[in-house]
Amino acid sequence: MESAADYHSALAQLEWQVSLGIDEAIGDAPVNRYEVVPDAKPASKSTKGKPAPGPAVIHAVASVDPVQDAQILAASADSLDALRAAVAGYDHCELKRGARNLVFGDGNPSARVMIIGEAPGRDEDREGRPFVGRAGQLLDKMLAAIDLGRDQSAPGDSVYIANIIPWRPPQNREPTPAEIAMMLPFIKRHIDLVAPDILVLLGDISCQALLGKQGITRLRGEWHEVMERPAMPMLHPAYLLRQGRAKREAWADLLALKARLKGT
Ligand code: URA
Repeated sequence: MESAADYHSALAQLEWQVSLGIDEAIGDAPVNRYEVVPDAKPASKSTKGKPAPGPAVIHAVASVDPVQDAQILAASADSLDALRAAVAGYDHCELKRGARNLVFGDGNPSARVMIIGEAPGRDEDREGRPFVGRAGQLLDKMLAAIDLGRDQSAPGDSVYIANIIPWRPPQNREPTPAEIAMMLPFIKRHIDLVAPDILVLLGDISCQALLGKQGITRLRGEWHEVMERPAMPMLHPAYLLRQGRAKREAWADLLALKARLKGT
């Protein structure tokens, strides 16, 4: 017998597909049309009396590599505005089709600290700005406790915030490895263009994407290096909202960040 959870999860998946514009069931299994080579027509034995064939039609197999495309687009962006436009025009990521807004970045692009989150949630999707929901409000409080803020104008007092994934995943599911891989060139270029002195990696997805390592509870509290910059993995504020006791560790990491900012 089907459980209520099965029913609700199936309904949620159906709603997600309808929101992507899917209106027809064609087959049980997905087909990658880029890999389908059209059947060669058997050559007709006799062409007598038939009009001469037209120019040969070459069935090129599209070799679209989403990661390579992202690398080319990201590398050609020479400003944050150009990068935003490049991300907005990138069509390989399915998440874009289910999102209301692109969530590109927020804060002071001259900030010494750049914070990298995971992916937008419902509130961020609605507003088009990262970290504006409950987790974002907690993040702002945490930053204020060490005299940092996204609205500050002095580079040493401010932060710039972006996410690995700039579109909201459906039902806030984790982004897939393929989605992370195709969006990685953009966030790396984002880091290049902001050129912060220090990176803060919030949560597991950010560490997985930029450090190539998982296990935030083990990784936090130590300085790492990302793109030749010091990087501190920190517990995600959404986790802190659920696990209040972990705020003690987050506070220790914030103090380490403050000390590093003062010392460099
Ligand atoms: N969580 C994130 O990782 N990023 C956001 O923008 C919001 C919540």
